[in-house]
Formats: sequence, C-alpha cells, structure tokens
Amino acid sequence: THQWRGIIEEYRDRLPVTADTPVVTLLEGGTPLVPAQLLSERTGCDVYLKVEGANPTGSFKDRGMTMAISKAKEEGAQAVICASTGNTSASAAAYAVRAGMVCAVLVPQGKIALGKMGQALVHGSRILQVDGNFDDCLELARGLSEKYPVALVNSVNPARIEGQKTASFEVVDALGDAPDIHVLPVGNAGNITAYWRGYREYAETGPATRRPRMWGYQASGSAPIVRGEPVRQPQTIATAIRIGNPASWRSAEQARDESGGLIDEVTDRQILSAYRLLAAREGVFVEPASAASVAGLLKAAEAGLVDPGQRIVCTVTGNGLKDPDWAVAGAPQPLTVPVDADAAAEKLGLA
Ligand code: F0G
Repeated sequence: THQWRGIIEEYRDRLPVTADTPVVTLLEGGTPLVPAQLLSERTGCDVYLKVEGANPTGSFKDRGMTMAISKAKEEGAQAVICASTGNTSASAAAYAVRAGMVCAVLVPQGKIALGKMGQALVHGSRILQVDGNFDDCLELARGLSEKYPVALVNSVNPARIEGQKTASFEVVDALGDAPDIHVLPVGNAGNITAYWRGYREYAETGPATRRPRMWGYQASGSAPIVRGEPVRQPQTIATAIRIGNPASWRSAEQARDESGGLIDEVTDRQILSAYRLLAAREGVFVEPASAASVAGLLKAAEAGLVDPGQRIVCTVTGNGLKDPDWAVAGAPQPLTVPVDADAAAEKLGLA
C-alpha cells in the first residue's frame, strides 16, 4: 500500500517511541512542498512552500501532537491540558478524541480565531477562556499540570518538538538535501527549535549533507526575541503568534546562531500583504500568522539580503479556513444577479 502512515510510522527510528508505544495518529505529515512561482520570480531563487495547513486539523501542531498524545497514553494519562492561541488546542482536542482522553484547553479570551474555537468545541474539549494573554494561559496550564493529574501537551513537552522535527526530514526527503534557507513564523518558538533539530539530525546521521540557515519572523507587536525582552501586552492581527514571552526563546536563538540565521520582525501590514499574495498569486490559502514567513522573505529580499540562485523553503503553518475573516475583510462584495445568463455574463464582463 502507498498510503502515508503518519509521522511516527514514517520516521519511527528517529523518534523516542518503542514497540510498546500506543500510536495515536490521524496520519499527519506528508504535507505538500509546493514550488512558489511568484516568490521564486521575485527573489531569483527556487522558493518552496511547506504547506502545513494540509495536516489533519489544519496546522503543523499535529506532528507534535501525535507524539505528545501517544507518549501521554503510554504513561497512562487520562487527561491532557494545553494553553493555546488556537491551533494547539484544535490539535490536542482531536488527538485526545482518538486516544479516548479528556482534553482541557486554556485560551486567551476573545483572541483566538473562530474556526479554531469551533474545532476545540466540536471535538468535545473543555475550554476555559482566560482573562489574559497566551503567556498567562501557559503559566496557568503549567501550574495545573504540576498539581493535578493532567499531562501538559504544549511545546514545552519534549515529545512535541520531536514530532515537529519530522517536517525537516520531509523537506530533505523531497529536495534531496537541505535548502540554503528555511523561513518560519515564530510565536512560542517551538517550531523553529524543532526544525533546527530535524535538520541537524539529518545532517549528522542521515541523508542530508548540509544544514540551512534558519530565518524566523515575529510580528512587530509581539517580537520579544527581536527586542531582547518580554513584551507585556503583545499585539498583532496574527493571533496565532500573539506571544510576549516564548517558552523556547533560548533554543530559537540557538537555532539562529548555530545556523548563521536571523530572527527579525514583520509588521501586520507586511503580514497581510503576504497573506493576500499567497492566496491571489500562489493559490495557497493560509492563516495570517503563517504568512509571516513569506512576509519575512520578501522583506529580506527587498533589503538585498537574498542572493539569487538559492533554494529556500518557507513553512506556512496553518490553513486559511481557520481564520477567514481576513479573507473577507477588505475584499469587494460579491455582486448579486437574477437567474439569467445575460445578466450574469454582463456582471462578469463576458458580454
Ligand atoms: N503559525 C501558527 C499557525 C501557529 O498556530 C503558531 C503557534 C505558530 C505559527 C508559531 O509556532 O509557537 O512554535 O513558534 N501556535 C501556538 C498555538 C502558540 O497555541 O496554537 P511556534
């Protein structure tokens, strides 16, 4: 059979699982690496999009969650908890269903996209809206997991990072070697940590002969790593990365420094512009936070930091359907027509 088996079965020998680990999976991973036509033209490079919105719950979180929930099950946990800006909770909720576990989620009140809230609800998780931001939610979730019998499945859980590193394996498997540059949005900084681990491992003991430079982009209003200090009131329309004190701060800096990369910021305006460009010119619909990687690449290219001829991969982390408000906002209203071919043709400019 040729069906993709999910990241644990596909990369079992590189993950901390044993024959006894109960594999809880929705067959995540195996996502498309799509050549980006316009971005390649603009940069003079071969640019690819790693489309993580194609995962079962619509974001890269599924790679980490299959590992975290499988390990929690192996350890006998009956309940899991996470703090989330929306995608982690959607993923945890779905995988908890598969594992027969109770899932509790803590989200910043009024600051998560409707689609993500809908996912957590429909999968039957217990949702608490916290009067605070993501950083407050994470502190609360950590505290609860220390005092009560509930496993924490945020990316501070090492199994999450292990699962997420498989995205780098897939990129190398598809391209034959690591790219020159890998670009990612940065929020809690788990994913850039995971990709770097994956690239390092594949270069040390795997098929890759080289490692990419890691470029991470935070939203300007939520850019603690760029500022060099926590941001107390993080702001950005990209709610998924509205984070002021990333848990994996140090390891993100390590990824940057060991790879000769950079961590920079992009404004909400640059994020929205990249979001629209991806949809209108590449045919790839992502959520705003995901567009931070592409916004960053374009910013760097305009600043003359991108030598032509390189191979560049941008991860787009989540599906556009999760947060469609931004697609509708500012777009022209659809025209209304009667059931009449001539009228429709006229409105379409065909007549
Ligand atoms: N893109 C999307 C769509 C995300 O949901 C997140 C994080 C990131 C990028 C940033 O990844 O945190 O590993 O640096 N979302 C988390 C959540 C915080 O709760 O869903 P990171």
